[in-house]
Amino acid sequence: MQNKPSEPKTAKSSGEKQVTMLKLVREHEQKLAAMEEKLELCYNELKELNYAHLLHDGMRESTWLKNQTFDLHNWAANYSFIYLLFRILDKIEPRNILEFGLGQTTKLTTQYIVHKNPKAHLNVCEHSLDWIKIYKPELPTHKHIRVNHLDLEYFDYWRKRNDKYAGLLELVGDKKFDLIIVDGPVGGGKNLPRSNVLDLIGHGNLAKDFVIIFDDAEREGEKNTIRKTQAALRKKSIAFQTFERFGIKRQAYIVSQSRVFAAFL
Ligand SMILES: C[S@@+](CC[C@H](N)C(=O)[O-])C[C@H]1O[C@@H](n2cnc3c(N)ncnc32)[C@H](O)[C@@H]1O
Repeated sequence: MQNKPSEPKTAKSSGEKQVTMLKLVREHEQKLAAMEEKLELCYNELKELNYAHLLHDGMRESTWLKNQTFDLHNWAANYSFIYLLFRILDKIEPRNILEFGLGQTTKLTTQYIVHKNPKAHLNVCEHSLDWIKIYKPELPTHKHIRVNHLDLEYFDYWRKRNDKYAGLLELVGDKKFDLIIVDGPVGGGKNLPRSNVLDLIGHGNLAKDFVIIFDDAEREGEKNTIRKTQAALRKKSIAFQTFERFGIKRQAYIVSQSRVFAAFL
């Protein structure tokens, strides 16, 4: 039997070279991707610091924001969120506010009612009694401020369990809100979180001039809720525009045509 002629040595080594080159390219690509991720984080941190400065400058002259102490970390709102919420309250002066998720944002909304616009109304929804117990004593009180404890109800969406506040439509009745802050219940890891806003649109609880703020708009679940909100508005032939702001977290704003200027505040 004849032996097969062996592969020429040069061909084999060039194949090996190719494998080595490919490995190197892949390693470089991975390093580059990791660096890009770090760069994006740094950029977001920088934006966050800038919003912190803007907030501190903006609050200094405020006649209504008397308590200017915020703890903007962990699950709370971040600086880009608090800054634009402050500007919206200050410049747009909403008359009927619905806030999902009690916390740092509520330090702003409650002071707005008490010291800036006592004719306006604020309804806050919170599922955690412990959270209400911790936070409520820190907040100013007023006959137009209501902190509502609502249980959660559960539903499946794309084979995942989601939750939302129960009994919301009964609570709000036929009220029309011109500012809705969507930051509760706890959103992470769900694929249709914080979906009460969809029920409100269907039920006709949106004022003609409106601003809806979604926190955590960088998350896939929240993106679904935002897309569905846009679809619900289109279904009702309500004209709107969407814009985003971000620091270490991202917010999406859906606004009526009359409130598009909020993007420039
Ligand atoms: C994302 S938080 C935001 C609440 C509020 N808008 C703020 O700016 O702080 C949403 C919900 O998470 C819960 N929560 C917030 N911080 C928490 C904490 N440190 N431990 C447990 N639950 C928390 C509360 O029930 C709250 O309604």
